Amino acid sequence: MTRAAAVEVVPLDPTAPTWSEDVAAWHAVYDEVARHLRAATANPWRLDELVVSLTADASHTRRTAWAARAREGALPGTPAGTVVGAGLLTLPLLDNRDTASVSVWVPARWRRHGVGTALAAAQEDAVRDLGRHVLQADAHTGDDAAAEAALGGLPFARARGYEVALAGLQSRVALPVDPALLGRLVADAAPHHTAYTLRTWEGPVPDDLVAGYARMDALVDVEAPSGSLEVEARTPAVEVWREREAESERQGRRNVSTAAVDAGGRVVAITELWRGDGRDQLQQWSTIVDAAHRGHRLGVAVKVANLRRAQEVWPDATEVVTWNAADNAPMLAVNEQMGFRVVERDVELQRRLTDPSEQG
Ligand SMILES: CC(C)(COP(=O)(O)OP(=O)(O)OC[C@H]1O[C@@H](n2cnc3c(N)ncnc32)[C@H](O)[C@@H]1OP(=O)(O)O)[C@@H](O)C(=O)NCCC(=O)NCCS
Repeated sequence: MTRAAAVEVVPLDPTAPTWSEDVAAWHAVYDEVARHLRAATANPWRLDELVVSLTADASHTRRTAWAARAREGALPGTPAGTVVGAGLLTLPLLDNRDTASVSVWVPARWRRHGVGTALAAAQEDAVRDLGRHVLQADAHTGDDAAAEAALGGLPFARARGYEVALAGLQSRVALPVDPALLGRLVADAAPHHTAYTLRTWEGPVPDDLVAGYARMDALVDVEAPSGSLEVEARTPAVEVWREREAESERQGRRNVSTAAVDAGGRVVAITELWRGDGRDQLQQWSTIVDAAHRGHRLGVAVKVANLRRAQEVWPDATEVVTWNAADNAPMLAVNEQMGFRVVERDVELQRRLTDPSEQG
């Protein structure tokens, strides 16, 4: 039997009668792999959060779960039909339409039997059939060669022709951050941004700010360092922003957000902290300062104002988690001032499908 035949790979259909049990088995594999060797740094999505995204029928993104099921006798000690690998294919629909994000997770006991190859190849074929050319993925790398080999993602991706496009860092800070430190940061920054007003809120972006807020959020992926990733600005449409907010709400996520507004009422900086239902940690999402308004300490101003409010709203939260490009010196400097420390490394990977005869 060839290695690729060890498993059958299928996309999961949310309308199938077996969907609930299929997606639960798929999620169990994903969750196990996400935590493997990463107990202190993993933050996998819960099943219900993923189900919302997989069934959202969103205008902006289509996500499809892929399952690899063992064939009879192909993997020692594994009954036929067992889910031995999980994949997730993410397609931006309104922008970045030449791009697809491919994810693959295989538990350690089933590795090096071609399961990852079969899952990646099935997704890559689907991308090729859609006429898209840019495959993107990511992998945690650990601190040294041994960790990189044990985590598996980077050597696997390299073997499939992906190249490192961007290095990333996960950083965390324990909560509460000392109010005296936050007070000093606010006082230091204040004289530099007197021409701007800071606004902080919970829940949806206020109507008078939402167009400017969506415009800023759409720029995050292109304004932050993106290495050699092929990436376009996201669609800044207000209705798409509202759709994303509604999806987050259905996922049980709550936010505290801050914007800086100039004298003309234009949103020139944004930042957000999110908390999922039942979670102790906060996630730092998009922080961006408009290029024309940099140099006024607005980055630190919005982040500190937002964190102060978040500490009032969620006094029991234990940590903030954030990801940055490893070469995003200004953002890393702001984070360091606030007490963040690097806890993990990852890489964004990319492969361009150029040759129509190329096969996975
Ligand atoms: C990456 C991952 C999915 C690979 O799954 P897998 O089923 O072991 O992959 P395959 O057996 O199809 O490996 C195919 C080839 O990739 C390379 N490869 C895979 N894992 C490797 C490792 N740990 N070290 C070196 N090469 C590796 C080898 O060339 C391998 O072929 P070989 O076994 O004949 O030498 C699995 O290690 C995993 O789930 N890691 C954590 C999640 C992750 O990083 N996913 C993102 C990947 S972009």
